Amino acid sequence: MNIVAISGSLRKDSYNTSLLRATQKYAPNGMDISIFDISTLPLYNQDAETEFPKRAQELKDAIESSDGVIIATPEFNRSISGVLKNAIDWSSRPWNKNSFIGKTVLLLGASVGQYGTSMAQQHLKTILLFLDVHVIGQPEFYLSNAGKKFDENGELTDEETIKFLKQALETLVKRM
Ligand SMILES: Cc1cc2nc3c(=O)[nH]c(=O)nc-3n(C[C@H](O)[C@H](O)[C@H](O)COP(=O)(O)O)c2cc1C
Repeated sequence: MNIVAISGSLRKDSYNTSLLRATQKYAPNGMDISIFDISTLPLYNQDAETEFPKRAQELKDAIESSDGVIIATPEFNRSISGVLKNAIDWSSRPWNKNSFIGKTVLLLGASVGQYGTSMAQQHLKTILLFLDVHVIGQPEFYLSNAGKKFDENGELTDEETIKFLKQALETLVKRM
């Protein structure tokens, strides 16, 4: 199983990116997870579709050739980050060439707040449903108080979260 993983945070010490690294560490047998860096995508501009940007095409190719997608989203002002929306917008274009169509997507999210990206993920589900994505509804993975769940090297150390993450990855296997 070839999985492409996208972090909605560009921050060097991002908890969401660290969470994706934990998915690589705890991936079930046969699951290969590669993190696609969205920081070098240009800002979406419909004029640029005539000469589709290389990096945006690489993202589309990575999604299309994958068996499934994992998105780890931060919550910014009760929604998803602009950079994540930008990546999704590129992936959905040109019209009728939506790379996400029919893909199974596991949503994860880490936040320093108490509600663990639940609002951001709700928005994200709305966007992904429009793109005909099979969003996994259960388990809902909302990692709250993220500052207490990772060590100083960005390693996920919270045992309960590790266990839950493994369950979420097993669900992804079953739904693909
Ligand atoms: C612009 C901005 C808006 C934020 N809004 C929220 C929010 O609505 N809810 C929340 O739980 N945390 C919010 N936060 C805090 C984030 O949870 C925190 O910065 C987190 O570390 C972001 O994820 P990352 O570690 O992957 O970068 C916000 C942070 C920023 C920079």
